[in-house]
Amino acid sequence: MAFTKDFLWGSASAAYQIEGAYDTAGKGPSIWDIWAHLPGKTFEGTNGDIACDHYHRIEEDVALMKEMGLKAYRFSISWPRIIPAGTGAINPEGIAFYNKLIDTLIKAEIVPMVTLYHWDLPQALQDEYSGWESRRIIDDFVNYSNVCFENFADRVKYWIVMNEPNIFTSLGYMLKLHPPGIQDEAIYLKAFHHTVLAHAKTVIAYKEAGYDGMIGSSIAYTPTYAASDSQEDQRAKRNFDVTGPLWYLDGYYKGAYPVAGVAYYTKKGVMPVVTRADETMMAAAAELADFIGINYYQTATIAHNPEDGVGFSEMNTSGKKGTQSENGIPGLYKQIHNDKLEYTDWDWAIDPDGLRYGLEILNKRYGLPIIISENGLGAYDVLTEAGEVNDDYRIDFLRKHILACEAAMSHGVNLLAYCTWSFTDLLSWLNGYKKRYGFVHIDFDSEALKRTKKKSYYWYQNVIATNGEEL
Ligand code: BG6
Repeated sequence: MAFTKDFLWGSASAAYQIEGAYDTAGKGPSIWDIWAHLPGKTFEGTNGDIACDHYHRIEEDVALMKEMGLKAYRFSISWPRIIPAGTGAINPEGIAFYNKLIDTLIKAEIVPMVTLYHWDLPQALQDEYSGWESRRIIDDFVNYSNVCFENFADRVKYWIVMNEPNIFTSLGYMLKLHPPGIQDEAIYLKAFHHTVLAHAKTVIAYKEAGYDGMIGSSIAYTPTYAASDSQEDQRAKRNFDVTGPLWYLDGYYKGAYPVAGVAYYTKKGVMPVVTRADETMMAAAAELADFIGINYYQTATIAHNPEDGVGFSEMNTSGKKGTQSENGIPGLYKQIHNDKLEYTDWDWAIDPDGLRYGLEILNKRYGLPIIISENGLGAYDVLTEAGEVNDDYRIDFLRKHILACEAAMSHGVNLLAYCTWSFTDLLSWLNGYKKRYGFVHIDFDSEALKRTKKKSYYWYQNVIATNGEEL
C-alpha cells in the first residue's frame, strides 16, 4: 500500500465561499464583497453574503467532518476578518472565530491546514494602492501572515500561503472575470510577481521565527499534452508551459522564472521588474519551502495556433456541455478539445492519468513533497424526495484520481495529503451555487441551509477508514 498510516485524507474550502457573515463581527469588506454586488459581475448575481453560513455553524460542520473520519481540513483565513482595513487594527472577533474553528477541529482529531490567501483581499488595500499591483502589498501581507502565525501557529502545522495565484491574477488582470476586472498583460505579470514576493517573504519570516510546521503555496496546476508529435504542436506546448505552469511553479519553487518565458515577455515589453533583491528572496524561499501545493482539476491539450489564429474565448460558466470553444494566443498556442477524454458539464477535461503524469513531472523537476490541496468534480446534483444525493459520478471521479495518486506514490512521489474540493457544497466564484463539489449537500434554496450527506460522503468515509484500501 502506497498510503502510510499518517497520510492526510482531507477536504477543503475557502472563507468567501462558505463563511457568510460578510459584514458582521468586525469584518472589513473584501474585494469580493464589493465585486459581487456590482451588477453583472457574477453568475446570476450570486454572492457570498451568507454562503453556507459556516460562520455560525462551526459545530455542525465539524461534527460532519468528524463523523466522516476526515484526517485534515483545509480552510482559508479571511484577511479582512482578521485585519479589517488590511493593515493596522486587529479584529479580536476574527481571531476568536478562527481559534474556535481550530480548537473544534483539533478536538475532533482533524488536522487544520490553513490557507492564508484565498482571494478575499481587504478592499481598503485595493482602494489605497490597487492591491496586488503595488509592491506595498508585500509587507502588508507579511504583517497579516505574522498575525496569523502568532495567533494560530501553536496549533496549525500546515500553512498554504497563496491559493492559485496564477488563477486570481489571470482572471483578475487578463480576463476581467475576477476583481479588479482589468485586462492588461503587464499588470497581470506584475501582480503575479508580487504574489511570488509576498509568498517568499512570508516563507522566510515563518522559518526565521522558528515555527515547527510546514509551509508552501498552492498553484492551479494544468499538465499539458501536445496535440500531436509535429514540431509545431510540440513548440506550442513548450510555449504554453513556459508562460503557464512552469512560469508559475518555477517562480515559486525554483526561485527564478523560466528563461524562455522571460525572453518572450521581455521582447513583448511586458516583463515585470525583477530586482536583484527579488531574485535573492525568491531563491531563498524556494530553498525553504516544505512542500508544493497543487490544485488539480484537468489537463490541457495544446496545438499550434497561427498568427491569425484564435484568441481568448469566454469560459463555459453556463454548465452547458460542449459550449467551450478553442482559445489561445495567436502565434503562440491554442488549447483544444481532447477527443480521448471525457468532459464535465462545464467542459473541464476529466483526466485522472493526467494527475499521475503531473505528479511525476513535479517530483522530477522540484523534488519536494506534494500536497494535493484541491481535486474534485463540479456537477449538478439532485436531492431526491427520499433525501438522498446519489453522486456515483463523483465517487467514480475521486476513486480514479486516488488510484492515480497511489500509482504516482509507488513511483517515488512523496504525497503528504489529498484534499478533495470540497467538503460541503459552496459558492463557485464564476458559477454560483448550482455547480456542486461537496460530500455534503446544502439546500441553498431554503434559509435553513440544511446539510445532507451525499452517497460520496459515505464512500469517502470508508476510503479513510480503510486507508485507501477500499476504493
Ligand atoms: C479552484 C479554487 O480554482 O477551483 C476554488 O481554488 C474553486 O476556490 C475551485 O471553487 C473550483 O472552481 P469552480 O470555478 O468550478 O468553482
